[in-house]
Amino acid sequence: MNDDNKQKSYHTITYGCQMNENDTERLAGQLKALGYAETDRPDGADVILVNTCCVRESAEKKIHGKIGELKRLKASNPNLIIGVTGCMAQKDRDKLFKRAPHVDLVLGTHNLHQLGEIITDIGRSRGRVLAVWDQAERLAPGVPTIRKNKISAWLPIMYGCNNFCTYCIVPYVRGRERSRPLDEVVGEAADLASQGFRELTLLGQNVNSYGKDEQGHADFADLLAAVDRVEGIARIRYMTSHPRDMNTKVIDTIRRSRHICEHFHLPIQAGSDAVLRAMNRGYTAAVYRSLVAEIRDAIPGASLTTDIIVGFPGETDEMFADTLDLVEEIRFDAAYTFLYSQRSGTPAADLPGQIPLAVKKERLQRLMSLQNEASLAINRELVGTETEVLVEGESKNDANKMMGRTRTNKIVIWDRHGSERTGDLATVKIDAAQTWVLKGTLV
Ligand code: 5AD
Ligand code: SF4
Repeated sequence: MNDDNKQKSYHTITYGCQMNENDTERLAGQLKALGYAETDRPDGADVILVNTCCVRESAEKKIHGKIGELKRLKASNPNLIIGVTGCMAQKDRDKLFKRAPHVDLVLGTHNLHQLGEIITDIGRSRGRVLAVWDQAERLAPGVPTIRKNKISAWLPIMYGCNNFCTYCIVPYVRGRERSRPLDEVVGEAADLASQGFRELTLLGQNVNSYGKDEQGHADFADLLAAVDRVEGIARIRYMTSHPRDMNTKVIDTIRRSRHICEHFHLPIQAGSDAVLRAMNRGYTAAVYRSLVAEIRDAIPGASLTTDIIVGFPGETDEMFADTLDLVEEIRFDAAYTFLYSQRSGTPAADLPGQIPLAVKKERLQRLMSLQNEASLAINRELVGTETEVLVEGESKNDANKMMGRTRTNKIVIWDRHGSERTGDLATVKIDAAQTWVLKGTLV
């Protein structure tokens, strides 16, 4: 076979949230349609895409490092097409182009569906392309999706965010909220079920706002109920909820559902009302507490996870102590904790009282150790119980072990029995607990 007949290949690198993972699947789908095959290694690939995140500076630094590394491959293969896509591409646009002359393509968040066309053009002209629209079409045309995971699928239900939390860059790079029609989402869910997927995660920056962008549109609870009726799907999850918009109708729908998992991810961000107000979160700590009480009352055994930012501008020691108190009181199953990162263009970036890095780090340490104790204590309470897991496959670190997740989204590892198959619901008895993982035996 000479070089021209060789099947072309692509390699993708994804940073950031599940929405980005799903976007990568849709970028891959377009390349597949052009005849490209996926490769695990960047060396030798014909197209390399870096799908980026800009929610925190730490992610951006890593991504710049990665883009820099690719220069070497471009030098050895001038026909290689390097594309930078997603949130950082949307935000930095031509700056990225200038900074990295070896990048052929910068593709914004609203332009992902154009990848196939643009790759074809670049292949012909060898020119560089900047495709970054300021605004989205209401809903971008559908493109094929290539899913690596055959058990669990991401299903976007809406795009964008209208909340404008003052620290967050997302509304600027993902645009205004656009909900997909209910029929379309349910149709896709049924299609995924018929392909053998067992678990669906409904995705949106703020899923509780589903439908609010159009009059007469079904709301999130309606959508949950409709997806729950799809036959063949064992588990339904959703990401991310905003505490302000989580309501009794949604909680009740989950309680009465067959497949929606008893896991609530409700980012609190801070425990101080002054900080919450400055963040423009639209709820107080008291409102959050009563929401948690309502959920625990309606669905005993539900797990609760959260996101917390430490060192928001103006956060005093006392305000941070409110976060610690709240974490101690609520007892989250897990918390994703972040150092506040100044994102230029957001209102918080210009606030006085930016907190020194050393102070932020010290607060993060204290918060993490408090949370880790709670996570471990909660997990220890599960030792001796039997729990349903969805078998996801071999454990990453040990081929003799299997991995699955509980409905409450906890990772469980057990010694391979041989009878369990990926995609099965199995029962595991929990023998030991760690902060992030449970260990057990197949029943
Ligand atoms: N700095 C730190 N954390 C942030 N997040 C969003 N923006 C920032 C920022 N500027 C966190 C929030 C959000 C999660 C996805 O990322 O906690 O819930
Ligand atoms: Fe950012 Fe707030 Fe929207 Fe989440 S809800 S994406 S934190 S603006």
